[in-house]
Amino acid sequence: MIKEWFATWFNTPYYHLLYRHRDLNEARSFIDNWLQAHPLPNNAHLLDLACGRGRHAVQLADNGYRVTGIDLSKENIAFANNHFAREGLNFVQGDMRDDLGNRQYDAVVNLFTSFGYFNTQKENQQVFDNIFQALKPNGCFLFDYLNPNTLSHINTNPETKVIDDVRFDILRRIEGEYVIKTIRVEDRGNTHTFYEKVKLIYPHTFREMLKTSGFTIEQEWGNYQLSTLNTGSSPRYITLARK
Ligand SMILES: C[S@@+](CC[C@H](N)C(=O)[O-])C[C@H]1O[C@@H](n2cnc3c(N)ncnc32)[C@H](O)[C@@H]1O
Repeated sequence: MIKEWFATWFNTPYYHLLYRHRDLNEARSFIDNWLQAHPLPNNAHLLDLACGRGRHAVQLADNGYRVTGIDLSKENIAFANNHFAREGLNFVQGDMRDDLGNRQYDAVVNLFTSFGYFNTQKENQQVFDNIFQALKPNGCFLFDYLNPNTLSHINTNPETKVIDDVRFDILRRIEGEYVIKTIRVEDRGNTHTFYEKVKLIYPHTFREMLKTSGFTIEQEWGNYQLSTLNTGSSPRYITLARK
């Protein structure tokens, strides 16, 4: 069976090399901004859904919360367990389309476009339904996605980056409802090709989807500094929704 692209690309060290500027510092600053604006109850239990290598989960745990990180990638979970796991901070492999538990968490976060990968709207909605079910009553969901309104000026010229002697040739294009990135990697004479395919889901669709799952939207922001959302120009669509 051919693996879905997101089960392959995020599981490679090359994803982490290419996105290495998306680091612990960026995560710390965003989490600090969020917790300042929205403190959580003491002893809150959080789920970082699609936690990657755990950069946000660590910051949440450093703030005194109990945190579980779930990610599809075996390699990411192994990395997070080796580097960050401790009492009150654990990581498990799992698929966000599967049951995430029942009334377990005070907050769920899904950050840095860890969504929009699936082929059907049914799967997308299922994830929001799973999150709703996994939250305790009055629990909250912090969601951070790209803002497709700003992608119309996407750079479709090929781009080359060399990082630690690894060459990345990147091509972006918009095809139908998806933004597709082809990443050709050349590493010590070996070449590999990976894809990213993310659905252009607009803020108005997310509002509908959240409502359908039962959420009430409390706040919307447009960047990691938590500036007010401008749907036409903000780089991110960040929302805080309440069960
Ligand atoms: C763009 S990365 C972001 C990771 C992390 N949130 C961060 O900010 O560093 C997306 C993550 O989603 C995970 N992922 C993809 N599909 C998933 C699924 N179906 N269930 C759970 N995690 C998934 C990937 O393995 C990857 O770690």
